[in-house]
Amino acid sequence: MRSVTTAPSDRRTTISLFSRLRTAEGQADPFPFYTELRAQGAVSPAPWGGFLLTGFSTCDQVLRSSAWLEPDTRWREKQGARTRWSAPSSREISRTLPALNPPEHTRVRRSAGSFDRTTIEQIGRRVGRVVDGLLGTVEERLHSGEADFAALVSEELPVATIGDWLAIPSADWPRLRELTHDQVFTQELLPNASQLARSDAAMAELRSYFLDLVRERRANPGTDPVSRWIHTWDELEPDQDKADEAVYFLALFVLLAALETTATLLSIMTLRLVEDPDRWSLLAAQPDLVPAFVEEALRFDPPTHVISRVAAEDCLLEDVEVRAGEMVHLMVGAAHRDPARFTAPEVFDPHRKPTHLAFSGGIHYCLGAPLARLEAQTLLRHTIARLPRLALVRRPAWAPRVAFRRLQNLDVTLA
Ligand code: HEM
Repeated sequence: MRSVTTAPSDRRTTISLFSRLRTAEGQADPFPFYTELRAQGAVSPAPWGGFLLTGFSTCDQVLRSSAWLEPDTRWREKQGARTRWSAPSSREISRTLPALNPPEHTRVRRSAGSFDRTTIEQIGRRVGRVVDGLLGTVEERLHSGEADFAALVSEELPVATIGDWLAIPSADWPRLRELTHDQVFTQELLPNASQLARSDAAMAELRSYFLDLVRERRANPGTDPVSRWIHTWDELEPDQDKADEAVYFLALFVLLAALETTATLLSIMTLRLVEDPDRWSLLAAQPDLVPAFVEEALRFDPPTHVISRVAAEDCLLEDVEVRAGEMVHLMVGAAHRDPARFTAPEVFDPHRKPTHLAFSGGIHYCLGAPLARLEAQTLLRHTIARLPRLALVRRPAWAPRVAFRRLQNLDVTLA
């Protein structure tokens, strides 16, 4: 068994590493930091408590095991009143699907339904039309110079897809998207007080928006998912206010989960395409490689770099003692570059057998993965087929984060 105490020098190294990782420069290339972290072991103590996991098989094992839990409402309450976990936005997010543990998680996940093949085909037709419109705008911009692919396409497609599916008026999409960018900090690795305040304000506005939406759908039901969830929850929950609240949490989380993550995937995937002319030639010659290209983009640099869990009981993880209630941070971005799992992990290779944890694993496996894949594959296929060859104008700017990657621009031009 390995001791959990850290030498002061390791502690200082890790603190300095994370403060560099949290900057725009660190986010532009976080992978050298992950190499440094991996050198401290597959499981290393986090300076603020808990552990950092960098090994692929360790992360995979934690995600699939019932010995590891989500930091749920009870866990957050135990952390005390003056911690990030007591912020109103943290308490609110703790009541959404990804923060629940069984048996509550099982019940709520079942009530959400899934994106079956028929639904994906229906949404797919609309995604194709939206992509064509957005690429038309990119084409026009390119006539007069460069185009910001992130703003014109990556930010627009996810909100148009999920907004239409949830039957949310398009006039509300820009504000909702802005709020999702603000609320993300409560789910970040080390949010500061002003970021938490932004999350709290965003969450309060989202709560009031979605509760109104649920009440409006209850009065005027349609064929949309929110109306269907009301029907489902009326059968599960005799108290109508509680049923409405359950539907609110589903609709809220679907919106939060679907926007930034997918926008980041679309941008990162396009960045991989335009930064190397050989990749464009490869896909143009072999469009069947599109799904594998998307999966490799998800491995190479996933939209979510950190997933957290807490130990259900005292246990040993890779020989390190972890106590019940201690948190582990699965450094997914690092795990995806684990040389013990991947040959030449730093090489972007769409011929690789796809394996990654970008959509998590086990019971919390991303509900929207088929939708994210649909959007990414459709965009990539249409981009190659329709646009002239593109090149990167400048390296993109990155938001200063750790867990949720965000490109702030993706400027392209005709090659
Ligand atoms: C590239 C895009 C996406 C990425 C990288 C992504 C990533 C993730 C990850 C890592 C989790 C699990 C978190 C955990 O284990 O604690 C998750 C859960 C979830 N995602 Fe996604 N997601 C994406 C798109 C979407 C979309 C489009 C939707 C909705 C339509 C969605 C809905 C959900 C939901 C509802 C959960 C909670 C599942 C549960 O806890 O049972 N996601 N996603």
